[in-house]
Amino acid sequence: MARVVIIGSGIAGLFAALRLADAGHAVTVITKQRPIDSSTNWAQGGIAAILDKTDGLGLESHIKDTLTSGDGMCDEKVVRCVIQEAGARIHDLLNIGVQFETDQDGNFHLVKEGGHSNRRILHAKDATGKEIERALSDAASAHLNITLKPNTLAMDLIQMEHKNPSKGIAGVWCLNQENDMVFTEPADVLMLATGGVGQLWSQTTNPPVATGDGLAMAYRAGAAVKDMAFIQFHPTALAVKSDRPFLITEAMRGEGGVILDTKGLHEWEAEVKRAGDKGSEVLPGPFSFTLKHSPQGSMATRDIVARAIDQRLKETGDKHVYLITSHLDQERLQEHFPNIQNRLNRHGLKLGRDPLPVSPAAHYIVGGLDVDDVGRPHCRETGEILPSLYAIGEVACTGMHGANRLASNSLLEAVVYAARAANHIIESTPDTRVSQLPDWRADGLGNLTEHVSLTHDRESLCNTMSREVGIVRRFTRLHRASRRLQLLSKEVDFIWRRALPSRQIVELRNLVLVGQLVTEDAIKRTENRGLHYNKDLIEGEEQSPSKSTFD
Ligand code: FAD
Ligand code: SIN
Repeated sequence: MARVVIIGSGIAGLFAALRLADAGHAVTVITKQRPIDSSTNWAQGGIAAILDKTDGLGLESHIKDTLTSGDGMCDEKVVRCVIQEAGARIHDLLNIGVQFETDQDGNFHLVKEGGHSNRRILHAKDATGKEIERALSDAASAHLNITLKPNTLAMDLIQMEHKNPSKGIAGVWCLNQENDMVFTEPADVLMLATGGVGQLWSQTTNPPVATGDGLAMAYRAGAAVKDMAFIQFHPTALAVKSDRPFLITEAMRGEGGVILDTKGLHEWEAEVKRAGDKGSEVLPGPFSFTLKHSPQGSMATRDIVARAIDQRLKETGDKHVYLITSHLDQERLQEHFPNIQNRLNRHGLKLGRDPLPVSPAAHYIVGGLDVDDVGRPHCRETGEILPSLYAIGEVACTGMHGANRLASNSLLEAVVYAARAANHIIESTPDTRVSQLPDWRADGLGNLTEHVSLTHDRESLCNTMSREVGIVRRFTRLHRASRRLQLLSKEVDFIWRRALPSRQIVELRNLVLVGQLVTEDAIKRTENRGLHYNKDLIEGEEQSPSKSTFD
């Protein structure tokens, strides 16, 4: 049986681990913090899926919404396969012990989010990811074939033959963060399930572990990336001073929540007052500035809503807009969104009563490692598959999301590709081929005595990405970012070569590289699609038909 090493313990990594372990493989799961520390654990809205494979209309409608959201850039074959496999994967999750919300009759309770034309999202109230992560990590901890290595930071992939990607990957160098020792983890097969890159921006919905490590490690080992410019900003991150970012799920808008700016809020409140007894019949929807950008208003796809908010904030100088829920049934909201209400309590805010201050924040990377239909990355130079390597979940770009991911399609894509990759490994019975692997280059390294420069460099990186490579872009800004990132890259490389590794330098090195890949892809783009929006391309450039114009 092959030794499989999986880096990452979110939905992708743990689902694949369980499937491989059930088939008798010895699986090691390496993870940076605790097993539950992942974007998966923070997912709120849910997982989109048509459970009944014979529901042709339902499947077609989910496919159509995904393609529309992807703005003409999805790989339709991938979209169809993923959506058709959804039911089977949900049953797998149920068998592992995930409990989704049901109604009084025992049917799954379904919600709706932006860009979805029907209710088709399974959820566990407003903490779906927590429930998925709980069930998967419980099952993984109990499995005899799975060894979990928490507090272990993967630093670099080890190639079978140095600087020869075509020979494949033989393992990974890791930092044991409990004793600061570097060790070599050999692997017959290595799976990257390291998640996203949100920590590149100052405002993000992502947890601290989302630093693009898998992307950067694989890129350094010769893997190809694609669509890196497509960064999804979630329209409604809670805009309050806080120790950690917090999302207000799009499902809140699915239940009728509306985004208003200060002017819209005042106009709506004045109209409610004017209507007197009939005030409760005056709804906030028609007062939303988002209607200028799409007839779906607050329920348009994320790219449109986030851009509309970004533009409005720049026009008004305000720091946030508002998510309005006071026209909705307060009891129902409290019941459906307890996790959010719990968080709002800290700030004296109440669902169904107070306007919630919200602003966009970096949320999801649509691009990533360019993989085939079972999650194998391609080689950047030759286009061939890189032997013995797989990438699943947010780190990979499968073609499912095109230029803009439809809400709640990420957990779905992750679980489908985790199953495919695991099945492929099980069917192809990889060789046990690891011999003597090189040790980490510890000789001659110094200890980093001064950490302040790294903190400054990271701040400078996040500021650059937020200012110059945000929701609305310009060539001049992108080029400025590119120059700054080049300087940072040299600086970080200088330290990297001299200092013993720490989490701080490992993450910074990866973030800078990913920042460069995002920026370079944005510079190369000659048209505005989905999440990539460069103001300089508006004039004389044909706009994609589904998009409204932002001036
Ligand atoms: P993750 O769940 O992020 O797991 C990555 C793992 O890799 C972590 O365990 C991390 O510690 C580990 N790791 C990373 N680097 C290293 C390293 N160098 N060494 C060791 N370990 C490493 N999507 C939906 O479909 N529906 C939703 O409702 C939804 N809500 C969301 C809400 C929030 C707040 C956020 C942030 C995202 C949401 N998403 C949602 C997106 C979705 O949660 C993620 O895309 C998905 O969970 C990614 O799963 P993953 O397994 O690829 O990565
Ligand atoms: C949300 O609940 O709004 C996030 C859903 C997603 O990112 O798919």
